[in-house]
Amino acid sequence: MLGGPGSGKGTQCAKLVADRGYAHLSAGDLLRDEVASGSALGQECAQIMKDGKLVPPEVIIRLLREAMERAVAAAPASALPVNILIDGFPRALDQAALFERGIMAPELVLFFDCPEEEMEARLLKRGETSGRADDNADTIRKRFRTFVEQSVPVVDEYHRKGKAAKISATAPPDEVYVKVLEAIDARAAKAAAAKPARGGRKAAAGAGKEEAVTATVAAANGGGVPALATA
Ligand code: AP5
Repeated sequence: MLGGPGSGKGTQCAKLVADRGYAHLSAGDLLRDEVASGSALGQECAQIMKDGKLVPPEVIIRLLREAMERAVAAAPASALPVNILIDGFPRALDQAALFERGIMAPELVLFFDCPEEEMEARLLKRGETSGRADDNADTIRKRFRTFVEQSVPVVDEYHRKGKAAKISATAPPDEVYVKVLEAIDARAAKAAAAKPARGGRKAAAGAGKEEAVTATVAAANGGGVPALATA
């Protein structure tokens, strides 16, 4: 899930988790957990986030890999392979390249398109109660700049690869969600048409439409580190 700050990524992820049971990993939440842990790394991340910049790719990829491993380890055998929805990643081309090289390629990249004025209004409103150090006018402007300079090229790249779906995010959340489901189901139909004979564990798990989400992780054969595979 990609989109500018306040475009509604987290809101739509929550709906998908409730509806379809995906494992949800939020890059921002993983970083905020690291900050809350009080570690030296967390302190470095806190400053970067306050400046509206991106933490180094190896940091966020390590946190994501570990969270993916935990999600797979926690899933009962009947729920494998696990469909993982990643919120706020990859936000830069180097992150995308590293993740694809070291872990896997996404099945689908959803991009929430929302004007800055709308996103700013949402974040300032949320900032009244969120307690987030980056929900203030100054940091919000910096986050927008980072998004335009570093994340928009990622969306363009996945469009070029035919893997991105752009969704207007200005309507109320339930209306946006209808478009989210349409995009996921269209991708699933396309994937199913391209691989009609595939069976095995995915079919047994009844993955169906859910296969289309960003990543599908297959459990390793007895090892601690999961084998990662595209759907
Ligand atoms: P992150 O936590 O991901 O923040 P963000 O991308 O700025 O996104 P937000 O969580 O603020 O907004 P959202 O799009 O999820 O919208 P939400 O649903 O919450 O990242 C924070 C920081 O961590 C980054 O700046 C960076 O420093 C670092 N970081 C994160 N990922 C990284 C990565 N991959 N690499 C390196 N660094 C990384 O909604 C916002 C508000 O709008 C809510 O109040 C909601 O109720 C409301 N709302 C939502 N949808 C609608 C709607 N349709 N209509 C009206 N209101 C709506």
